Parts: sequence; C-alpha cells; structure tokens
Amino acid sequence: MTRHERDGHIIFQGDAVRVLRDEIPDNSIDLIFVDPPYNIGKNFNGRADKWVTDESYLNWCYSWIDLCLKKLKPSGSFYVMTSTQFIPYFDIYLREKVEILSRIVWSYDSSGVQAKNYFGSMYEPILFCVKNKNDYTFNSEEILVEAKTGAKRKLIDYRKNPPQPYNTQKVPGNVWEFARVRYRMSEYENHPTQKPIALLERIIKASSNPGDVVLDPFSGTFTTSYVAKKLGRKSIGIEIDEDFVKIGLRRVQQLQEINGEKLQREPKIYETNNTHQLTLFEPKP
Ligand SMILES: C[S@@+](CC[C@H](N)C(=O)[O-])C[C@H]1O[C@@H](n2cnc3c(N)ncnc32)[C@H](O)[C@@H]1O
Repeated sequence: MTRHERDGHIIFQGDAVRVLRDEIPDNSIDLIFVDPPYNIGKNFNGRADKWVTDESYLNWCYSWIDLCLKKLKPSGSFYVMTSTQFIPYFDIYLREKVEILSRIVWSYDSSGVQAKNYFGSMYEPILFCVKNKNDYTFNSEEILVEAKTGAKRKLIDYRKNPPQPYNTQKVPGNVWEFARVRYRMSEYENHPTQKPIALLERIIKASSNPGDVVLDPFSGTFTTSYVAKKLGRKSIGIEIDEDFVKIGLRRVQQLQEINGEKLQREPKIYETNNTHQLTLFEPKP
C-alpha cells in the first residue's frame, strides 16, 4: 500500500477493503461514491472483472459496503453503482441498513452497435442512501436544471391562486442524462469505465459542502477526487492499479513525474503527427 497526500487530497494505491479497514477512521467521511468492478468481464489493465460465482462477487461487495457505512459520518451520504443485474441485491442488502432515498438511472445514448437480438443496456443504476433521513446534506439549489414542460411552452398554472407561470428550474428527477466519456472528449483518460465529470459534479454539489471529505474506494481515473478538488472539497481516492494511480497523481495532485517517470496524458491518435493518424475511407468513383 502506498499513500500520497497533497493539499487535502489523499491517494492510496492498494486494495479497497484493506485501505478502508486499516487507514480510514470510522465516522469520518461526509460523502462516499462507489463505482466498483461490475462483475461483467471488463478488463481493468489486465485485472479481470469476473468473480467465480455471483455469490462470491456479492459477498465481496457486502464486505466493502459494510466498511463504507462504518466510515461514513452519521449525517453522511452514500452513492453506489453496479451493473443492472446486481443492483437489486445491493438494494435489498442496503435497505436493512440505511435509507435509500433515490434509485437513480444514469441514461445515455450510444452511437456504437448495440445488441441486435434484444434491447441493449443503455443505463447504469445508482443508489443514493443516507444514514439518517432527518440529518443529511442536500443542496438542491446547487443542482437545478431547466424545467422543460410548462415553462418552455410559457404555460400558466391555473391551479395556483392567483395563477402563475410554471417554474423555469427544478431539482432533477431520478433519470439523469449525461453523455458517456468518449475518446474525443477532453476529459478522456485511458480507462474502460471512466465516469463523466458532469455526473460527479451533480452528486458532489448536492451531497457535500466545501471543506467536506469525499471518498471513492475504486477511483479508476480519479474523477471523484478531481471534481471534489474543483469544488473545494477534500478527497480520498483508493485504486489498486498502479497505472490508474498515476492518472490520479497527475489529474488530482498535478504531479508531473514520479520516481523519474513523466506523468503525461497519452496523446490522442489525432493529436500526434505520425503515420497512425485515422484516415477516412473514400470510395473509388
Ligand atoms: C468501474 S472502475 C472505476 C472508474 C472510476 N469511477 C472513474 O471515473 O474512472 C473500478 C476500478 O476499481 C479498481 N479496482 C478493482 N479491484 C480493486 C480493489 N480490490 N481495490 C481497489 N481498486 C480496485 C479497478 O482497477 C478499476 O479502476
């Protein structure tokens, strides 16, 4: 296990369960966001994302869920994701321990080929939980979105006395539309399941205040810590893979090099001036 700290932002390279158990004080974290391996066979830099049985995956998940809840302050919030097929198990497990306030669907479109013989998966579920439904942070004013129906059509709500125009802004519902991180986006890093900055902005703005501590035990490209820093929060990120930790050191702690190795973002194919540039197919006349 290695630990890097700079300006209130801590990065651990190590196993999430061990670091949570041994390094994080109980009742110390304001907001935890967890985007773990989904047990669907992704390749995390050579580390397989597939457990021998569903039961062994779930038992592993329950071990870090319990630890996260132990580390969360009594007024803290817990957001957790996993694949559509495993989220029902998380839901049943968590509803005995915390209040599940929202079952969020992060919905996105895809230009790529999806399933042809069934309906392709175009969303990822997120559970938003709190320990105490009478004492938790929810900054609704910070996350308002445009209220499209009513206001956009300049309708008047005649059920109100006196009648009033519809609100132009509202607190988002539980279906969130954010584009997935694509190769051409400036935030893109070399990781198979990077989460969008916009998704973490909504969560961190809503469920924490400046100066609060935000923890992500499976940090990947450290999107959570990056956004936490941008919004004036403190952060703790844990990640097992050394290459992904290097992304975090560059992205969050702005390190230029470590042990003599330069920490630069890999140039995109179209940014380099070499023969590997993408060429467009031009049909012969
Ligand atoms: C779904 S990805 C997280 C992506 C991240 N939210 C982002 O925006 O980039 C899960 C991450 O967990 C890491 N991981 C897998 N097993 C781990 C473990 N036991 N402890 C810590 N990290 C682990 C993987 O290397 C992978 O980067």
